[in-house]
This record gives sequence, C-alpha cells and structure tokens, in this order.
Amino acid sequence: MGERSKSHLLDLLLAALCLLGALRPNVCAAAAGDVTAGPIFACDVAANATLAGFPFCNASLSAHERVEDLLPRLTLKEKIGNLVNNATAVPRLGIPKYGWWSEALHGVSDVGPATFFSHLIPGATSFPQVILTAASFNASLFEAIGKVVSTEARAMHNLGHAGLTFWSPNINIFRDPRWGRGQETPGEDPFLASKYAAGYVKGLQETDDEDPEKLKVAACCKHYTAYDVDNWKGIQRYTFDAKVTKQDMDDTFQPPFKSCVIDGNVASVMCSYNQVNGKPTCADPDLLAGTIRGDWKLNGYIVSDCDSVSVLYYDQHYTKTPEEAAAISIKSGLDLNCGTFLKEHTLAAIKGGHLKEEDVDKAIRNNLAVLMRLRFFDGDPRKLPYGNLGRDDVCSAANQELAREAARQGIVLLKNDLERLPLDAAAVESLAVIGPNANVTVTMIGNYAGPPCKYTTPLQGLSANVKNTLYAPGCADVGCQGSSLQLAAATDAASKADATILVVGADQSIERESFDRVSLLLPGLQTELITEVAKVAKGPVVLVIMSGGPFDITFAKSNHNISAILWVGYPGEAGGAAIADVIFGFFNPSGRLPVTWYPESFADSVNMTDMRMRPDPSTGYPGRTYRFYTGETVYKFGDGLSYSNFTHHLISAPKLVTVPLDASHACHSQRCLSVPLADSGCSAGPLKFDLRLQVRNAGAARGSHTVFLFMTPPPVHGAPKKHLMGFEKVFVEPSGAAEVAFSVEVCRDMSLVDENGERKVALGAHVLHVGSLKHSVSLTI
Ligand SMILES: *[C@@H]1O[C@H](CO)[C@@H](O)[C@H](O)[C@H]1NC(C)=O
Ligand SMILES: *[C@@H]1O[C@H](CO)[C@@H](O)[C@H](O)[C@H]1NC(C)=O
Ligand SMILES: *[C@@H]1O[C@H](CO)[C@@H](O)[C@H](O)[C@H]1NC(C)=O
Ligand SMILES: *[C@@H]1O[C@H](CO)[C@@H](O)[C@H](O)[C@H]1NC(C)=O
Ligand SMILES: *[C@@H]1O[C@H](CO)[C@@H](O)[C@H](O)[C@H]1NC(C)=O
Ligand SMILES: *[C@@H]1O[C@H](CO)[C@@H](O)[C@H](O)[C@H]1NC(C)=O
Ligand SMILES: *[C@@H]1O[C@H](CO)[C@@H](O)[C@H](O)[C@H]1NC(C)=O
Ligand SMILES: *[C@@H]1O[C@H](CO)[C@@H](O)[C@H](O)[C@H]1NC(C)=O
Repeated sequence: MGERSKSHLLDLLLAALCLLGALRPNVCAAAAGDVTAGPIFACDVAANATLAGFPFCNASLSAHERVEDLLPRLTLKEKIGNLVNNATAVPRLGIPKYGWWSEALHGVSDVGPATFFSHLIPGATSFPQVILTAASFNASLFEAIGKVVSTEARAMHNLGHAGLTFWSPNINIFRDPRWGRGQETPGEDPFLASKYAAGYVKGLQETDDEDPEKLKVAACCKHYTAYDVDNWKGIQRYTFDAKVTKQDMDDTFQPPFKSCVIDGNVASVMCSYNQVNGKPTCADPDLLAGTIRGDWKLNGYIVSDCDSVSVLYYDQHYTKTPEEAAAISIKSGLDLNCGTFLKEHTLAAIKGGHLKEEDVDKAIRNNLAVLMRLRFFDGDPRKLPYGNLGRDDVCSAANQELAREAARQGIVLLKNDLERLPLDAAAVESLAVIGPNANVTVTMIGNYAGPPCKYTTPLQGLSANVKNTLYAPGCADVGCQGSSLQLAAATDAASKADATILVVGADQSIERESFDRVSLLLPGLQTELITEVAKVAKGPVVLVIMSGGPFDITFAKSNHNISAILWVGYPGEAGGAAIADVIFGFFNPSGRLPVTWYPESFADSVNMTDMRMRPDPSTGYPGRTYRFYTGETVYKFGDGLSYSNFTHHLISAPKLVTVPLDASHACHSQRCLSVPLADSGCSAGPLKFDLRLQVRNAGAARGSHTVFLFMTPPPVHGAPKKHLMGFEKVFVEPSGAAEVAFSVEVCRDMSLVDENGERKVALGAHVLHVGSLKHSVSLTI
C-alpha cells in the first residue's frame, strides 16, 4: 500500500465526514478501526451459545445435512427473502443478511454492492483486463491470478469489506470485434476460453484436496449463453434475440460454460439478459435445469443477471404477468435473482398456483449449500482457514509483482521491422512519449475493476529508463476530435527525440458495457496523429495500442516509418512498467492475439446481430473468428512476435488411429464420413495418443514461447478450417530446447459437432499443425 504515512490525516478527515453523516455507514465502521470492521457470518456460537444446538451450525455435519436441517426452520417469507442478492436476515436463527453480489473479474472490485473499499482497504491488486491475460496463453498464470484475487477477497471478507460469492469470470465468446465487453473475456476461441474458465475458477475457489466440498470463495461463470451484443446501433441486450444454430451453440457458445462447470467445478452460473431462439435464457428449462444442472451436474446455484427476470417481463413481455415470470424462471432452474423481482412476486406466484413452495425449496437448497461450503455458517471466519488473512495480504509486493508479470506475459508484439525493438536504454538519451493513452491511469484497468493499489502509467514506466522524456498527449483524450488535436507539440517532440513511443487506442468511452463500437478504425484523429508523428520522427517509432477489442491498423502495419507495433490490452495497474519492460528488452514478449483483427470492411458489411459462425458463400457472409472467417485479416488469431525465433520439430505422433466400432455397425458395410460419438466406442475408455515435439530457441534472446496445436479436420459437417486443440507455453534459453507433449484424447479433442448439434468423429485425414510443421493423422474404423 505504501501510503500509510498519510493515514493519520485521512483518519481525521474521515472521522469528520462520518460525524457529518456524509459517508456510507460501512465506510465509517471500517474507518473507525480494525475492531469494528468485523466480518458478517452466521452461527456466532461464541456470542450466543444457544445457536450451538442447531445442527445447521454444526461444522462437522455435511453441507447437505445442514441445509436439510435449516430449510424446514425457515418460513416461506424467509425463504423468498433468500431468493434475491440482498438476502434477508433471519435474526431468530442467528443468520445475518448476506449480500451475494461481489465481483472479481481481474482483481477484487467494488462493482457489486457487497464489496467496498475504505480507508482501511483503499485498493486491491488490479490485474490486466482478462483479454490481455488470455493473450499470455499460459494456463498456470490464469490459476495463479485467481489464487491471488481470492486471497485478497478473503482478507477483505475478514475485515467486513467483501462477500464470498463473486460473479466472475465472464467467459462469453468474443464473437464480434465490436463488442464493448469483449475486453472482459478470454477471446474468440472456445478452447482457450474453456482453459481460462477452468483455470481462473480453480484459482478463485481453491477447493482443498482434503475437503473438495469447501470453497475459498465461490466463482460464477457468466453470461449463459450466446450473449455478446450489448448495444449496437440501438439494438439492446435486454431485448435481443440471438438466433443460434444447434451446431454453433454446441461447438462455439457452450464449451466454455461446460468446461467451467465440469473441469472448473464452479459454484455458480449466471444466465444472461438476451433471448436465445425466442426464449429468455433465465426462463429456459432446457438451458438451466436440462443442461447446466442435468447434463453438467452443477454443484452450486444459478443466478440471473441484474435483473434479467424483471427484463423478461417488462422489456421482453415474455409472460403475461409478473407472477408467471417469477414462476417460469424458478421452475426453469433459476435459484437466485440479482435484483428484487422474485422477492416481490414469488409469494403471489405460489398463491396464484403458478409455483409450489417445493420449487422455492429447491432453489434455496442450492443457495444455502454454497454458503455452507464457504463456511458462512461456521462462525467467525477469523477463526477458520483463511482467518489469518488481513490488510497485509491485500496489495502485497508479491501480488503487485504478479500483476506486472501478467501484463508482460500478455503483451503482443505485432510488428518489429529491422528488429528496432528492444530499444537499448543506454543508447536512448531522449524519448518522446506521445498519445492520448501515454499517461493514463484508470484507462489501464478497464471495466469491472476496483481501485488499484497504485498505478504505473506508460509515461512513468518508460521515463524510469531514460534520462530525458518529452511528453505530448497529442489529443485531449482518446476520442481525439478535431479541436482536441495537439499536433505541433507531438511532432516537435518526435523530431527531437532518439526514439518515439506512441500510446493510443481506446478506453471505456469507446468500448464498454452497454456500448458496442460501429467502426474498427482508431477513434477520431488518432490515425492522423500517428501518421504525422511518424513522418517527422527522428528515431524509431513504436506504436502501442491500448485497447480491449481489435482495430484495423492496416495504415500502421504498412507504414515503414513505424518500426514496431505492440498491443497491450488494458494492462492493469502495473501496465506502464510492463510496457517499459518489453520495449527496453527486460522481458521478451511472448503474448499472442486471442482474437482476429478484421479490416474495417467487416464492420461495414456484417451485422453484429448475425450470430452465425459459419460463412455463407451464397450471400457473401464471411463467417467469424479464425475457425470460419474467409475474408482478409489485419492480424490473425495467434499472431505475436518475439525477440527470438523458435522452431518446432516433431519427435513422435501416430499416422493412423483406429476407432473401435461394433462389428455390426452400418459403417462397416457402407462408406461413412463420420461416426456418432455415441457409437464410436469412445465411452469404452479414452482413445488416446501422444504428440511429442521439440521446441528450439534459434535466436539470441531467452524467452517463453507458446506452442499452438491446431487441427484441420476432414471437410465434413461444416467443420472449422482449423481449431485449437492444445497450447503449451515453454521457456527456452538461447540455443536451448524444450520438449512439449500433447496428450490427445481422440473423441474429446478431434470430434466435431454436426449440423444437428451431435458430436461425431470424422473419418479420414486430420492435419495437425504446429507453426509450419504439419502432420497428418488418419482416423479409420
Ligand atoms: C455435531 O455433529 C457431530 C456429528 O454428528 C456430533 O457428534 C456432535 O455432537 C455435534 N455437535 C453438537 C454441538 O451438537
Ligand atoms: C440466542 O439465539 C436464540 C436462538 O436463535 C435466540 O432465541 C436468542 O434470543 C438469542 N439470544 C441473544 C442474547 O441474542
Ligand atoms: C442491495 O444492497 C446494497 C447495499 O445496501 C444496495 O446498494 C443495492 O442497491 C441493493 N440492491 C441490489 C439489487 O443489489
Ligand atoms: C502523468 O500522470 C500522473 C498520474 O496521474 C500524474 O501524476 C503526472 O503529473 C502526469 N504527468 C504528466 C507529465 O502530465
Ligand atoms: C517517412 O519518413 C521520412 C523522413 O524520415 C519522410 O520523408 C517520409 O515521408 C515518411 N513516410 C511516411 C509514410 O510517413
Ligand atoms: C442487417 O440487418 C438489417 C436489419 O435487420 C437488414 O435490413 C440488413 O439486410 C442486414 N444486412 C446484412 C448485410 O445482413
Ligand atoms: C528470425 O528468423 C528470420 C528468418 O530466418 C530472420 O530474418 C530474423 O532475423 C530472426 N529474428 C530473430 C529475432 O532472431
Ligand atoms: C506462466 O506463468 C507462471 C506464473 O506467472 C510463470 O511462473 C511461468 O514462468 C509462466 N510460464 C512460462 C512458460 O512463461
């Protein structure tokens, strides 16, 4: 935190404001000192011995037994009060009110009302926005960040500053480059999004091996499902009906959620605002009770977006009465309502015969079980595991270093003509640092953030490495409208300095929740600023794009006066330090683009609301993402350079794999293009093979390298051109080598979804590629 010297003065100021009643009571409680800023919890046996007699307070019983004890003690009214995020207290049972809504997308955030910051905890470690972390393609980093975030969350909980249920991560597919919330997601690829979901959730929840039921905090994968239009040309998420084919549903939109529930064992899923094929997701029994709870066996609760139950009644007019809206959502499998709608209408729904008390019981059971698993009913959390976490565990030096490391690992080097990067700090006497994002703070943390521990802006990070810095913002803000262009100071600085760094891009005024872009070009006059600076710059020009979504920067790619281009996402609190680490070569860039960078023509010709992933040659529809898109790109999914060169060499892989198939199967007598997974003997035991590779570092710089294993299946059933089936990041010393092995499960990794949403194994040649290396594996029966 490092700012404790100022604390006495602030104490006095806060005390004065609290006396005047100008601040929220919880802030004042926290400011009054550690003692009063205690956590909320149920079953305070130490304060009231009577509570010890309740089996639901007995920590040696299972969560299930405790829930079954508690449920019958609650009145219907009390149950209904626990269907909403501001759950009502039951004082006669020693249960305080509980706020379910907290957020921790990339650090503990105060976007949800159950978490707040105060003088006691003024900030938390703010990691890069998720899209940049995804670009690291380092699965252990996803989990490492999750662990740090939940440590800070538990520490804040002990101090009465946070809940235990965090509605993160956002794992929707970044399907369209214009989406304002694409920044929050791990990108366009279902496999990467699945790995991110499982990794981050495991880090957050950190279930211990001894008692896998116990949760450190409860994560929530959202927004289920096919949600990725916020507000595009007036089309609002609240009323948008996503028309999704069975095939796209099962091989694009659902996989991250499936992985989150099955591999990540998440404690919650949030249903979205939009409709899918005419049904609101929070009122679709097939999507909720059928898929999440039935097929995937969610051990946890299903929560609505805030307040999507109200939205399906008032905005979508999906039911005639509010009671029917309450009933259909609960009966479909919804357990908790972010909002107040279910509190207001559930009783009437029961009285009107639309719903039974048993339906409510089912939901309450799921909610209470999660609180049990979080040890909310175990008494004072300071006497329980994680009980010793406190102030010093928030914003610790190690946590903040991980935020810087995560940004370094994600930053993508897109262009490096004549290897002008890295710059030699000793040789650069003066550095021009130009652009509307060159000295930003809050822009770096994107949305769904909390106040960070501190900021290192790009200007601060860069100028720490050189004697003389010339700073010129170039425009008043990223909007860079005509009157705000400050060209003269910018070109003057560039013409004098030994090197020029331009930091441009976007912020939340350009792309955000409830606001999608209509253009992929850099905002306002940014292009002009960059071009004019590049024209007169004395030294090499490095263009740094700070943004969540991609831009069409073809002009910069082809401008020979721009030597290097970096994409830095929204790099978090330590972004400026990480950018400097890469530019001056203290860190060898290893990030890769997690999304396709499309040309502006894409935005001109494709409706954002068109959910189809696959191209349609008859209308010229180009399809979406690297798996299907047929048009030109500015940069491709997976693009990213290094200060070194890595080569791949195949060590071993089979050429032929035989899929066992019953002797009586029709495909033995007739030629089949594919076999349904159900018929293929896949269930008998995993059909596996190993693909082993050697990675050599052929350059002079040490560094990490992500090995991407792509597969091109036979062209049947509208199969993707290629899809990612594995990635592994390895560190390699110069002239060194590392071995990477992928364990391929044929039915899981090489199957595809047909037009009816059925998973099949295609027969014939599957081409596996790693960089320029290609290897064909033939599947036969
Ligand atoms: C808690 O449950 C355990 C296991 O059933 C039992 O042995 C113990 O007596 C219970 N504790 C209290 C205080 O009732
Ligand atoms: C202790 O808990 C019991 C059971 O909930 C309650 O009836 C009683 O009023 C509580 N006593 C105090 C002093 O709060
Ligand atoms: C819940 O309570 C919080 C804090 O008291 C308040 O800010 C919020 O508006 C309430 N309602 C919902 C729906 O979260
Ligand atoms: C850069 O931003 C920091 C943080 O907001 C601020 O303190 C500093 O004055 C700014 N520097 C310049 C040169 O504007
Ligand atoms: C590149 O820089 C040179 C001067 O260094 C200038 O003459 C030329 O116009 C510039 N070209 C572009 C495309 O900016
Ligand atoms: C985009 O949507 C509008 C409104 O639904 C429709 O009129 C138009 O034909 C669509 N354009 C394309 C290229 O699909
Ligand atoms: C990588 O290899 C290419 C092609 O051999 C070469 O032009 C380039 O200089 C190498 N780059 C590095 C950083 O070693
Ligand atoms: C992946 O991230 C972890 C956590 O920061 C780090 O220790 C490890 O070195 C990274 N792996 C590679 C290959 O860079």
